[in-house]
Amino acid sequence: MTLFEKLRCLFTFGQGVALPLPDISSKTNPIQLFDQWFNDANKSGILLAESMSVSSCDQSGQPSSRMVLLKEFDEDGFVFYTNYASRKSQDLAENNKIALLFHWGVLQRQIRIEGIVEKVTHEQSEKYFHSRDRGSQIGAWASKQSSLLANKEELKKQQAYYTEKFAGQVIPLPEFWGGWRIKPHYMEFWQGRANRLHDRICFELSQTHSELEKAPKSLWRQFNLNP
Ligand SMILES: Cc1cc2nc3c(=O)[nH]c(=O)nc-3n(C[C@H](O)[C@H](O)[C@H](O)COP(=O)(O)O)c2cc1C
Repeated sequence: MTLFEKLRCLFTFGQGVALPLPDISSKTNPIQLFDQWFNDANKSGILLAESMSVSSCDQSGQPSSRMVLLKEFDEDGFVFYTNYASRKSQDLAENNKIALLFHWGVLQRQIRIEGIVEKVTHEQSEKYFHSRDRGSQIGAWASKQSSLLANKEELKKQQAYYTEKFAGQVIPLPEFWGGWRIKPHYMEFWQGRANRLHDRICFELSQTHSELEKAPKSLWRQFNLNP
């Protein structure tokens, strides 16, 4: 983003930005558009542009949301990593429907994604796990994410235990830790505009996921919604 564009954002904040939308034709692919917006967010200097809200639902239908970091994305979907015994993972194991949300305030942009999840392969989780620093790998072993913590000492003891246990060796991927891939069937790009006349550009898969498995290419239907 140029300095001029940044200034324009600042002056129009609250009224909608004047940034032009990237070319959106009937052939636009939402993953490519996501890529473009994600790059804009990274270039704008937003801290942790890859952070996103993940919403899951438990068996009773109670939704819950939390932030995670997007680690990979491509035509196959959006991937984040977590503890497979955590509350979110328990929800997702029982109900594979999920919603993601990105908000890049300075750009006045929001992206909503809805889809279903699947676990990434063991190899993919292992590769990512070993790309993390050693402290984070130990942390993954030490934390029983989302379960009750009696006191902070308990966690520190676990950290010390695993630091010693794995001293001098490659830390194995815990069997309770790995990635979830979100396969989107709905994506909505929101761009703030003056006088609340915001853009809402939506994409919906015109085939179900099971039909898609047989079809070589996904077909996205594009439409706009009132702001
Ligand atoms: C910016 C940010 C990024 C986060 N990234 C992750 C992440 O990638 N994976 C993760 O398991 N938790 C991440 N967390 C912590 C989660 O928000 C959450 O506290 C944790 O995963 C437990 O959620 P759960 O009990 O609903 O499963 C992040 C938190 C913040 C604020």
